[in-house]
Amino acid sequence: MLDRPHPTPEAPTMDPFVLAKALSGQHFIGGRYVPARSGKTFPVVNPATGDEVARAAEGDAADVEAAVEDAARAQKEWAKTPARKRGALVAQCAAILRAHVEELGRLIALETGKALRTESRVEANTVADILEFFGGLGGELKGETVPFAPEVLSVTVREPLGVVGAIIPWNVPMLLMALKVAPALVAGNSVVVKSAEEAPLAVLRICELMNRVLPAGVFNMVSGFGPECGAPLVAHPKVRKVTFTGSVETGKIVYRTAAEKLIPVTLELGGKSPMIVFADCDFEKTLAGALTSMRFTRQGQSCTAASRIYVERPIFQRFVDAMAERVDKMVMGDPLDEKTDIGTIISEGQFEKVSGFIEEGRATAGANGRACSAMPTDPALRKGLFIQPHIFTGLDKESRLVREEIFGPVTCIFPFDDAESVLEEANDSEYGLAASLWTNNLKVALNLAHKLEAGLVQVNQNLVVQANLSYGGVKSSGLGKEASLEAMLEHFTHKKTIMVNMG
Ligand code: NAI
Ligand code: MG
Repeated sequence: MLDRPHPTPEAPTMDPFVLAKALSGQHFIGGRYVPARSGKTFPVVNPATGDEVARAAEGDAADVEAAVEDAARAQKEWAKTPARKRGALVAQCAAILRAHVEELGRLIALETGKALRTESRVEANTVADILEFFGGLGGELKGETVPFAPEVLSVTVREPLGVVGAIIPWNVPMLLMALKVAPALVAGNSVVVKSAEEAPLAVLRICELMNRVLPAGVFNMVSGFGPECGAPLVAHPKVRKVTFTGSVETGKIVYRTAAEKLIPVTLELGGKSPMIVFADCDFEKTLAGALTSMRFTRQGQSCTAASRIYVERPIFQRFVDAMAERVDKMVMGDPLDEKTDIGTIISEGQFEKVSGFIEEGRATAGANGRACSAMPTDPALRKGLFIQPHIFTGLDKESRLVREEIFGPVTCIFPFDDAESVLEEANDSEYGLAASLWTNNLKVALNLAHKLEAGLVQVNQNLVVQANLSYGGVKSSGLGKEASLEAMLEHFTHKKTIMVNMG
């Protein structure tokens, strides 16, 4: 149980501004809120207005040291807790989170600018779902019996790795954290999370809520910047596994440090996911699918966003026009307003980056960039980081817009003539995270599904990450899987062989 008093309200708090203030200046270490050892803080900004809504504890190596030491101490007892009991506690956390969905949805909308109705509330619900799923898997931490010799009983057992360092990004921070923390805990590890500097609040509140049932020290959180706070977590000798979601560039830094320590890593990095639309598809369903595939409601800030769309030539122009018309109807505005479909970009840095891509596309000879969805007119939002969704056609396939991850509401559409050429184009990418195919021809769909270089291929749908389905890319998109039983077994345990000679 929590060591009180603590600064946040016990009950769900619907005013995210009040909650943001209450969460200011804290890490969560060893079962309690603690400020940064240095006393330093940094601003948390509402990207819809530019206003500072809170200050987060600015962690460094000293805070990481405290968190990892507490985690290492707590892990020893936690590993002795029966696996199904650990799962039951994680499932209890899910129940607490269910009661706080509205609160968490509003808080994440405030700090990330993601619309409450279309994204933020959905994310909060998914977090509870992920915890429920992994909470039921304690009993699956099974080993094997191995036929070695009649007089030798040879078995394998699954053991936890120890302290897990989890580094998370800002686009879906609660969900991506849950994908790491839940399986790590059920498998008997303890965890130190380093939150993303752009979105430290909702994940901190979740950490506190889960600590109402978890033993102190099993789940800890520090906030701070990558090099100052993330890097010492990866490098800490007592951290025996690192799981990271973020950019390819940072992923490689993490991997290098982990290599020095010879510890396993899971890396979930970027994507440039193709969506392939055949002329025989269900047009309306595919059109609706394109909007969700491109994650326009998340301002395209998704590693699985369908940022390259290939449409069979006979329906190409009709598809582009219809898609632009649909996106145009989406409402951009205050993330906390239930009417809003599309909120803001996370930060000024990302705003500049995405805007740069759009300007470059617009300046490209022969390319056509359609800006959709009206900018909000509310004067309170005049400093908001809103970017109109853009649909580009006529780009060269070597364009930076086609090759790099934009992480904004920008998609590029191309016509194609046959399955073979579109397969080649789709696979011509550094990335290999996800892909979707839209056709009623099962033979074509299955053939391409087998040949696409991606961790996840969906036909006639393009859902976001789901509990129970392995998720993770190939090529530069990363290493390892998340969200499934396999993810827990393969990435948060090691297998020990025990042999007993009975002869
Ligand atoms: P990033 O990869 O730099 O940040 C992700 C996390 O890593 C944050 O918590 C950050 O503090 C931490 N970090 C940064 N440097 C670190 C270091 N040296 N050691 C340990 N941890 C470190 O990503 P950023 O700068 O937020 O976004 C840049 C681009 O990355 C985006 O435009 C997008 O293309 C991609 N990205 C992909 C995501 C995905 O879901 N795969 C999520 C977020 C960003
Ligand atoms: Mg960065």
